Amino acid sequence: MSRIVLGVAGGVAAYKAALLLRALTEAGHDVRVVPTPGALNFVGAATFEALSGHPVTTDVWSDVPEVAHVRIGQTADLVVVAPATADLLARAAAGRADDLLTATLLTAHCPVVFVPAMHTEMWLHPATQDNVATLRRRGSIVLPPAVGRLTGPDSGPGRLPEPHDVAALAQVALTAGAGALRADLTGRRVVVSAGGTREPLDPVRYLGNRSSGRQGWALARVAAGRGAEVTLVAANVDLPAPFGVRVVPVGTAEELRAAVLAEAGSGGGVTADVVVMTAAVADFRPATVAATKLKKDSASEPAAVPLVRNPDVLAELVTKRAPGQLVVGFAAETGDEAGDVLAHARAKLARKGCDLLVVNDVSGGGVFGRPDNAAVVLAADGSATEIPHGTKDAVAAAVWQTVLPRLP
Ligand SMILES: Cc1cc2nc3c(=O)[nH]c(=O)nc-3n(C[C@H](O)[C@H](O)[C@H](O)COP(=O)(O)O)c2cc1C
Repeated sequence: MSRIVLGVAGGVAAYKAALLLRALTEAGHDVRVVPTPGALNFVGAATFEALSGHPVTTDVWSDVPEVAHVRIGQTADLVVVAPATADLLARAAAGRADDLLTATLLTAHCPVVFVPAMHTEMWLHPATQDNVATLRRRGSIVLPPAVGRLTGPDSGPGRLPEPHDVAALAQVALTAGAGALRADLTGRRVVVSAGGTREPLDPVRYLGNRSSGRQGWALARVAAGRGAEVTLVAANVDLPAPFGVRVVPVGTAEELRAAVLAEAGSGGGVTADVVVMTAAVADFRPATVAATKLKKDSASEPAAVPLVRNPDVLAELVTKRAPGQLVVGFAAETGDEAGDVLAHARAKLARKGCDLLVVNDVSGGGVFGRPDNAAVVLAADGSATEIPHGTKDAVAAAVWQTVLPRLP
């Protein structure tokens, strides 16, 4: 159990802080809410007290013998400020300590995550952008705001990301540290494929696989958190889109191939800096697709289902990649009499020619659909980086740490 301080500033998105608080406490953390006085105009202290199990104060004059203005920050494992208003970012950048939250920010030794939310004009104003740059330079994480509906009829960048995205990224900062969410993918284009393709047999049935898309979702979410422009080519995934990520839905391997090559810029146009292929693409598809449902005890009942090979999307991406583009493959492997998991993976890396191959040992079905994972990242230069067991977001953060130094 970690000690998290949830700072809440006075923006209309403060109502989402209650859901974020819930997500963090349900993940097993001890969360103390420190709102600004302005935040309590939007959500009452009673809500934060009841959901956190801790008293809520906004100033440094309550609980004086406890010296709360110093102790809360000193003892925190993580501070998340959501929403972070333009005013709060300005006060934090200036090093002010005029309420309990800003005093806490000055005494925290742990990773600090600011989640800005405000109108587009306030976000894009040079004063706010300078404050964000100052906070990032000092080592704090400042997440990019989501783009979408703001208060009233307006829309644009400035929206608070959804609480489940913030909770997942807070968990990354907690386990991997502030360095795992630096804004160092800003200006980069990233394409991630996720999920599992479905190859139709007739209008009702398909050959599919057990990939849930969660690992690809986590890679997209962490890349967006680091500032990248991310497109997710998603094969049959039933998850809400991560914030700031454009989702291109596909069904079959052929559809996935067309979408990934187009988004990667393999045929020309804008090219991606990195393409990460986490999708489980079917190697085979039924040779024919029946136009009507195959029926038992009828002429259409198949004695066998002949299969033909699907295109090898990863290998094609490698051959057609733009100069400097990094291609990262994923391999779900099991050991067998011909070799162990890593031996199969090394052979696959050599065969496909990608820059990195992230290897999951799926013996015993320990990966599909679960929230956690572990992996080894093999590189074309022969190196192997072990990623310890953790949430799929933590694994995603570790994968990006191996990709980033290889970007030109
Ligand atoms: C209805 C309403 C909504 C507001 N929403 C935001 C917002 O989303 N983001 C923001 O930066 N300021 C917003 N403000 C302005 C802040 O409340 C104001 O700047 C305040 O001084 C922030 O104080 P704090 O950062 O100490 O909480 C809003 C104000 C009102 C009245």
